[in-house]
Amino acid sequence: MTVLVTGGAGFIGSAFVRQALKDLPEARIVILDALTYAGNLSTLENELKNPRVQFYPGKIQDPTVVEGILKAEGVTHLVNFAAESHNDRAMLEVGSFIQTDVYGVYTLLEAARKFKLERLLHVSTDEVYGSIDTGHFTEASPIEPNTPYSASKAGGELQIRAAIKAHGTPALITRGGNTYGPYHFPEKLIPFFIVRLIDGKKVPVYGDGSQVREWIHCDDHAGGILHVLQHGQIGEAYNVGDKNERTNMEVVKILLEETGRDQNFIKSIPDPRRGAHDKRYSMTTDKLEALGWKPKKPFEESLRETVRWYKSNESWWRPLVQTEDYQRFIRAFYGPALGEDL
Ligand code: DAU
Repeated sequence: MTVLVTGGAGFIGSAFVRQALKDLPEARIVILDALTYAGNLSTLENELKNPRVQFYPGKIQDPTVVEGILKAEGVTHLVNFAAESHNDRAMLEVGSFIQTDVYGVYTLLEAARKFKLERLLHVSTDEVYGSIDTGHFTEASPIEPNTPYSASKAGGELQIRAAIKAHGTPALITRGGNTYGPYHFPEKLIPFFIVRLIDGKKVPVYGDGSQVREWIHCDDHAGGILHVLQHGQIGEAYNVGDKNERTNMEVVKILLEETGRDQNFIKSIPDPRRGAHDKRYSMTTDKLEALGWKPKKPFEESLRETVRWYKSNESWWRPLVQTEDYQRFIRAFYGPALGEDL
């Protein structure tokens, strides 16, 4: 088994690489990553020393790169984590999302067909379902994305669906919930707020913070994906979640406690996602559980452990928040609302 992990230097992709090296002792792991702002080779420092791991820099949108790797490495399985994934960046600019999340998926599908891969697993998101006020999404729920980002992920998924039907491509899809844990680029709610609180800065809560997200630890998310790769049925989609719903404010309170900050560090700002801000995500995971998989990490304890990880791994995240690209995004997105608290 030779597994190509695209986006393997990113947050969930790198957690998957670690898991796969442990659970697939015979497999070779080939990583392709564009090393955009969110991909970081220091995340894979230990794994890259492993003789079973081979790294290639490059984009999934580039057929020469993708096909060259499939040929040179004799890839049998492909797991696609490569994506532009931050909703707020997509509020400012969505072209790069369509390039990676839609066109990139098309490139992988073409290559999978040409090289007759055994399995292609595409990592998607629960956001493709849109928002749900009560009850839970199942894998049969309609795809109704509301944000520029989730619309691009849905576009990729629809290409997968069509390739399965039109060409019999042996593909599967996973739809994951909001993910947290170490090595998460500090722009999404949890890592962004942790690094700001460590630095004694206020945290910008959109509106009243009553939005609900379902959180899963990156190791559980990666484990669920690996389980689907091994045991899922080709042509099917599987939700990967922890049924762990929290309002944003509940999450923020734990972060304040664990960083030793008080309520004065919360700054409510007008919702920058406007009408595209989904109120609640919630999904059933019965289909994946029926394959014999369950998440293991308890939320609150693991979230506190994550805060402690950021406290003791400043050398990983500090250089990231000092880059010009990061500063530019934070100024452009939060500057007007945060003012002197930026
Ligand atoms: O549900 C899966 C999705 O979860 C993934 O597909 C996305 O890649 C991932 O980014 C995440 O999407 P969200 O938009 O839910 O995650 P984010 O951490 O950006 O926001 C979580 C909630 O926190 C959301 O209600 C917006 C709010 N928020 C976020 C940020 C960055 C704030 O109130 N303030 C902030 O500064």
